[in-house]
Amino acid sequence: MALTEPIHHIGLLVADLEEAIERWSLATGYRFSEVARYQTDFYVDHSDAHPHHHDARISFSKEGPPFIELMEFHGVGTHSAAQGEGIHHLGFMDHPDVEGKKRDLSACGMGCDGMALDEDGKILLWFTKKEDLHGIRLEFVSPVPQPIVMDDGRPAYIDERGFPGLWPPERA
Ligand SMILES: [Fe+2]
Repeated sequence: MALTEPIHHIGLLVADLEEAIERWSLATGYRFSEVARYQTDFYVDHSDAHPHHHDARISFSKEGPPFIELMEFHGVGTHSAAQGEGIHHLGFMDHPDVEGKKRDLSACGMGCDGMALDEDGKILLWFTKKEDLHGIRLEFVSPVPQPIVMDDGRPAYIDERGFPGLWPPERA
């Protein structure tokens, strides 16, 4: 039950992604990836319990962990402007059992608000409910390819595992 995985990234919600990349680069000296999109038609959250379109523009820092994930306001649910700017979630990547984690935390009274599903309804990632941990969500991401494309809709880069990624392959 204990959470033993280290925090992989800190997700921030921002109003203007390009401006945020500039300011966070200046402030930290970190390099940020090209803008990409977490784009799916199978997202559910408090705004709509039916799978719906979700298209969050994002950028990750090269430096980490913990990495910094900048996400631009999107939609009317978990990523909306109504949520305000600032820390949105602590991210745990490649979680081996996102469904089990959801059940375990639910048994502790911690709910879910925000889930990306695959076409078969399996969880690709999920967020705990903001109100259940003092205004900050935890994000659990399954170790499978995620629906990431570049900002203009082109396919994302491919990482060393063959999954869509935000960084071009390193030159040998
Ligand atoms: Fe995240």
